[in-house]
Amino acid sequence: MQPPPRKRRISILTSTGSIGQSALAVVRHYPEWFEVVALGANTQWDVLAEQIREFKPKYAAVVDPYAAEKLAEENLGVEILKGDEGLNEAAKVPVDTVLCAVVGAAGLHPLLSAIGAGNRVAVANKEPFVMAGKLVMEEAAKHGVAVLPVDSEHNAIFQCLHGYEKSDVQCIHLTASGGPFYGKPRETLAAVTPEQAVRHPTWNMGEKISVDSATLMNKGLEIVEAMWLFGLPESQINVVIHPQSIVHSMVEYRDGNILAQMGVTDMRFPILFALTWPERVDTPMERLDLTRMNVLTFAEPDFAEFPCLALARRAAAEGGTATAILNAANETAVAAFRKHHIPFLSISDVVGATLDACRASQDYSLASVMDADARARETARGVIEQIGSLA
Ligand SMILES: NC(=O)c1ccc[n+]([C@@H]2O[C@H](COP(=O)([O-])OP(=O)(O)OC[C@H]3O[C@@H](n4cnc5c(N)ncnc54)[C@H](OP(=O)(O)O)[C@@H]3O)[C@@H](O)[C@H]2O)c1
Repeated sequence: MQPPPRKRRISILTSTGSIGQSALAVVRHYPEWFEVVALGANTQWDVLAEQIREFKPKYAAVVDPYAAEKLAEENLGVEILKGDEGLNEAAKVPVDTVLCAVVGAAGLHPLLSAIGAGNRVAVANKEPFVMAGKLVMEEAAKHGVAVLPVDSEHNAIFQCLHGYEKSDVQCIHLTASGGPFYGKPRETLAAVTPEQAVRHPTWNMGEKISVDSATLMNKGLEIVEAMWLFGLPESQINVVIHPQSIVHSMVEYRDGNILAQMGVTDMRFPILFALTWPERVDTPMERLDLTRMNVLTFAEPDFAEFPCLALARRAAAEGGTATAILNAANETAVAAFRKHHIPFLSISDVVGATLDACRASQDYSLASVMDADARARETARGVIEQIGSLA
C-alpha cells in the first residue's frame, strides 16, 4: 500500500446510521490515513459510545437530550456537544472534511455550519440539496469550500465529469435499481408493509432512504440533488432503470460519447473516494469482477406506476421552494407509513396533495425554505389525518 501523504482530520456527523457506520468501516481499514475528530448521534448513544471507545474523537455531538445524558454517564473523556446546536458546533470544528450523514432535513443546518466554517464537505445527506440546494452551493462558493457527493449516483457523475466542460454535457443518466417493487402492478402494492418496503434488492441502507427507493422518490430527490451539485436544469437529467446497480450513473456528452462509472454496491467506495479526493488510494475492499457480470439492462421508468418520480419532476421544474415542500411532505408521509398510519400507496397521495395545497415561493433564502418546510409538514399531517379517518 502506498504511504499516506498526511493524516486527514475528519468529522462524521452523524456516525450511528448506515452511512456513518460505513464511513467508520473505511477509517478502520485505513487507521494511518484518518484522525477522527468528531462523531455524532441523535438517539443511538450506545452505538456512539462504542465508536468513541474505538476511534477516540475529541468531540461527540448528541442531539437527543436523553441520549446525551446517557452518553455522559459513560465518562468516556470526550467533549459532549448537546442538541441541534451541539451538532452545528461539531460541524464547525476545523477539519479536512466533514462527512454529512444525517438523514433528512435535520442535516441542513449542520451542513451549512460546516461550510460556513470553511470545512470541505462530503455529503451523503441528499435532503438539504432538495430543500435548499441553491443556498448550499452559493455558501460553498462564498467560502471556497469543495462539496463532494457521496450518494453513489452523484459520486459517479462527479467522476465522469472530471476534466470536461459542463457546456459539453448533453445530459446525465441517473441509474435507479427500481427498488423492491419495480415491475409489480400498482394494485398489488396496496398491502405492502414497512418491513417489506425497506428490503432493498441491491443496497443495504437506512430505513427512510429504503422506503424512498421503493416509491422511487429517492430518484426524484436525486434529480434535484444533481441539478444543484452539477448546475444543470431538470430537463438535462434523465433516469434509467438499471436493476443490477452496477453502473452507478453516466454522463452523455454532445458528441454522443457516454461515460459510465461502475462498481460494486458498497457505499464504502464513494465514501473513500470523497474522503481522500483528489488522491486515489489502494483498497483491500472487494472489487467488481467484470467476468461475473452477465448482463446490464437499462429501461425507461414507469411514471404511472411510481407517481413520486413525476411529483419530484414537477417540483423540480417549478423551482424555488417547491422542492422544499416536496421533501417535507415526503418525510412526513414516509414517517407516517413507517408507523403504519398510512398505506404504502398513500405516500404519493400525501406528497401530491401537499404540493397542490402549498404555494411555492421563488425566494431561495433560508427563512423562506424553513417556512415552506414547516407549512408543508403541517399540510401533510392534515392530509394524513384525513386518510386515517377514511380508513
Ligand atoms: N445508506 C446509504 O447507503 C445511502 C446512500 C446514499 C445516500 N444516503 C443518504 O445519506 C443520509 C443518511 O442515510 P442512512 O441510510 O445512513 O440513514 P440512517 O441509517 O437512518 O441513519 C440516519 C442518521 O441520522 C441521525 N439522525 C436522525 N435524525 C436526526 C436528527 N433529527 N438530528 C440529527 N441526526 C439525526 C441518526 O442518528 P441515531 O441513529 O443516533 O438516532 C443516524 O445517525 C440520507 O440522507 C440518505 O438519503 C444513504
